Amino acid sequence: MMKLPARVTICEVGPRDGFQIEPEWIPTETKIEVIDRLAETGLPRIEVTSFVHPKVVPQMRDAEEVMARIRRRPGTRYVALVPNDKGAVRAVDAGVDAIHTVVSASESHNLANVNMTVAESLVKLRAVLEVAARAKVAVNCAISTSFGCPFEGDVPVDRLEWVVRSLVDMGAPGIALADTTGMANPRQVTEILERFVPRFPGIEWTLHTHDTRAMAIPNILAAMACGVTHFDSSIGGLGGCPFAPGASGNVCTEDLVHCLHAMGVQTGIDLDRLLTVSRHVETVVGRTLPGQVHKAGPWTRRYPVPDGVAARLPSARGAART
Ligand code: COA
Ligand code: ZN
Repeated sequence: MMKLPARVTICEVGPRDGFQIEPEWIPTETKIEVIDRLAETGLPRIEVTSFVHPKVVPQMRDAEEVMARIRRRPGTRYVALVPNDKGAVRAVDAGVDAIHTVVSASESHNLANVNMTVAESLVKLRAVLEVAARAKVAVNCAISTSFGCPFEGDVPVDRLEWVVRSLVDMGAPGIALADTTGMANPRQVTEILERFVPRFPGIEWTLHTHDTRAMAIPNILAAMACGVTHFDSSIGGLGGCPFAPGASGNVCTEDLVHCLHAMGVQTGIDLDRLLTVSRHVETVVGRTLPGQVHKAGPWTRRYPVPDGVAARLPSARGAART
């Protein structure tokens, strides 16, 4: 029997991981409308923006305004990504419900992404945890390139474990293992989680996937079999790190929700509404998004039986005789 949880928690990261890489400026009110519509689908968590250097990621330069003007739906946790304590102070001042931090497992990606060595980042993240604790804001710590680095290739598991251990020792309550450029495979996900879950009791694990090589949903299935119940995904399959060559979209939220619901795993999210938002986001970015279900429709979709076929169905002939 496949091991599946009864329910999972999805964090929608499209407004951050997705919009950050869009080359054309997305007006603030457009971002807000997308976030508000996403919340209306019942999403329990939305990563709405990041508090990073506005010159480094110009698309996120309206972080304060986005936070100030979104409609806060009770039941949705509004989250922002921060790389350092300066970002954490901005995020807390802007009223976030939770902070997601970022550091990479590989040195080269961390330097490319946040201009710090991993050790320097860890010093900053300790300060972030202090800012968050003082403000009583929840924190989750993501580790980019957990399953492979576009510059260095394989990331040794011992190395990844050292980063996890460092974050856990400084008080991180949750860790998101991020597959920044879609290099993870289900066997690797299983091996890493089977090692980490018992070694770090009490930690809330999240899998953050990118579908760069069509392995995101298989990886999520593998993680669920290891007991993981928190996943990041993005509407339509938007997404990608501006500082990771070859990066592409996250696992698509509506495809993931569709897959989970088809298997009887609850998310609390309204799939039909999600599909409507996905079509709206396509008009925002001006191109077709990678998600499949908004093109194919859900598995419950049916087409009329062609005329010639309908008449020849055994049920139709039976009906004619009686
Ligand atoms: N928000 C806004 N400004 C920030 C900031 C933040 N979170 N962190 C630092 N700064 C400002 C500093 O105040 C300083 O300003 P000043 O020149 O006016 O004094 C300036 O940036 C340089 O500070 P420094 O700490 O040396 O930062 P840096 O130039 O080395 O950049 C980061 C480091 C982390 C801020 C930057 O690389 C960054 O924002 N990266 C984010 C990458 C990202 O979002 N990737 C995708 C998501 S994973
Ligand atoms: Zn990502």
